Amino acid sequence: MRYPIPNESIELLFTKARSHRSWTEHPVSQETLRELYEVMKWAPTSVNLAPARFVFVQTELVKEKLYPYLMDSNVEQVKSAPVTVIIAYDEKFYTNAKRLYPAYDTTDYFKNDPKISSDTAFRNSSLQGAYLIMAARALGLDTNSMSGFDNAGVDKAFFAGTDLKSNFLCTLGYGDDSKLFARGPRLSFDEVCQFI
Ligand SMILES: Cc1cc2nc3c(=O)[nH]c(=O)nc-3n(C[C@H](O)[C@H](O)[C@H](O)COP(=O)(O)O)c2cc1C
Repeated sequence: MRYPIPNESIELLFTKARSHRSWTEHPVSQETLRELYEVMKWAPTSVNLAPARFVFVQTELVKEKLYPYLMDSNVEQVKSAPVTVIIAYDEKFYTNAKRLYPAYDTTDYFKNDPKISSDTAFRNSSLQGAYLIMAARALGLDTNSMSGFDNAGVDKAFFAGTDLKSNFLCTLGYGDDSKLFARGPRLSFDEVCQFI
């Protein structure tokens, strides 16, 4: 039997956590990024396949490869954030299937069905991106996700000749609370949920 986490932790993860677009000077170390992965890697994926791959962009030199493919309003965010993660997925994720789920080998199931394989890679890498956001919050970091960019362009610039494809981007750092605008509302329970 496990017990709910304290309300303060729920606030940190959900109810008071914001998406940040402006950052303090506080840096994010590679040690923290490793810790982040060590936390989020335990969250669940289909048949434990973990198709997501994470590229932590830290330097101006590499950020410059991203700028041409970003929606205008996202350029400044990437420029100012200590880290931008390219959350990608490995289209050949199933090469690890046997190792990651020894109880039942699904390699051929995915290898022989490109539609199921690509749906699985996209669905689970999206989930893993969400886990990364929540793990970052749990470690006291702030994030902003971005789908406003040209995926094909980023794939060409970063993943040419590989089996990786970009899903979305996520900035990481310590947000500047003074720059936040008023939070948007959320849909109510009755609008989006039903008991049947
Ligand atoms: C998948 C995804 C894509 C997003 N794309 C962008 C984006 O391209 N640019 C941007 O500034 N914010 C982007 N956002 C941030 C959302 O607008 C923000 O998380 C949402 O308005 C909730 O804000 P709050 O967390 O401060 O309440 C994205 C968020 C998600 C989860």
